[in-house]
Amino acid sequence: MPKSNVFITGVAGFLGSHLADRMLEKGHRVSGCDNMLGADERNVSKDVDFYRDDARDFEKMKARLKGVDILYHCAAAPHEGLSVFSPTLITAHTYNSTVGVVSAAVVADVKRVVFCSSMARYGRQGGEGGIFSEDMRPEPVDPYGIAKVASELFIQSMAEAHGFEYAIIVPHNIYGPRQKYDDPFRNVLSIMINRMLQEKQPIIYGDGMQRRNFSYIEDTVGPMEKAAFEDNVIGETINVGPDDEFITINEAAETLADILDFDLNPIYMPDRPQEVKHASCSAEKARRLLGYQTKTTFREGAEELVDWIRMRGAKPFEYHLNLEIINDRTPRTWRDRLI
Ligand SMILES: NC(=O)c1ccc[n+]([C@@H]2O[C@H](COP(=O)([O-])OP(=O)(O)OC[C@H]3O[C@@H](n4cnc5c(N)ncnc54)[C@H](O)[C@@H]3O)[C@@H](O)[C@H]2O)c1
Repeated sequence: MPKSNVFITGVAGFLGSHLADRMLEKGHRVSGCDNMLGADERNVSKDVDFYRDDARDFEKMKARLKGVDILYHCAAAPHEGLSVFSPTLITAHTYNSTVGVVSAAVVADVKRVVFCSSMARYGRQGGEGGIFSEDMRPEPVDPYGIAKVASELFIQSMAEAHGFEYAIIVPHNIYGPRQKYDDPFRNVLSIMINRMLQEKQPIIYGDGMQRRNFSYIEDTVGPMEKAAFEDNVIGETINVGPDDEFITINEAAETLADILDFDLNPIYMPDRPQEVKHASCSAEKARRLLGYQTKTTFREGAEELVDWIRMRGAKPFEYHLNLEIINDRTPRTWRDRLI
């Protein structure tokens, strides 16, 4: 395969940094930016040309994207639950970042844009036991999902007008090493592990029967790599993640407690507004177009994540994002900093 110049926004984050490592392994030249909103610079390989830039900054992005062939746009504030309480912040980093960097990509004549969307694009269409498939019309129910769908529409519109290639990848619930575990607003598995390592019971919103699929990072990166190079993905929207191991939040807590040998008795809190009860995707299209395969079971991936967090050490939670709307619907866990 010819070597390409690849630029990754959000490269100091979880997915962006793993993607950078994969691209470097394959001999591509990798550069990227991160504004450090949810990042850790230790994630970034020394072989990446790294810039502490904000993807919303059109002028800077224009300069950084000179000579780039592939743009992976991973930067976002991927805080779905928080987005109904901090919509300005979440929309700025999730939608405005797309406008900034994709407009710059047009000027820089980038060949292909691969955008990381989210299952939040489907809203509640999963229903009772239903499964999201790509032919469903997007019906997001929270500002984060709305910002992702708006980003998709923006990319489609700009691609139509200016003629670059694009693919929209819809990962679901990715987990694994490098995931931020001191962020009280997201990453349920990591939060639970961090608490259990501090001898604190995990906190579960609602009855814990919310059903999810979790995708191990290694299983996500391979298909994302293909999305940059294969012709059959151009203009496509593709879910990436397992559709064969459904797990409730209660079951996830039980597995983690078992790995950690922790005496589990979760603390249950009221449901969070707009939280979707069942969220599982069909992986049929990813199997067909990207050769997607689930290689890691939830138990195996959870063991890797526990090992990594243990190695880094448990940490206090950091309330690093501003709660914009504080009212009687704001989860007490956030308002009163209970996590
Ligand atoms: N992790 C998941 O389960 C999951 C699922 C579906 C979709 N996604 C999407 O994948 C992408 C990566 O998610 P992640 O889990 O690695 O999150 P992450 O928070 O680890 O990575 C996102 C990175 O973007 C950076 N960032 C935020 N705003 C920025 C801006 N304006 N300019 C430059 N950098 C900015 C953050 O500092 C962070 O390092 C996101 O777009 C997210 O919406 C993630």
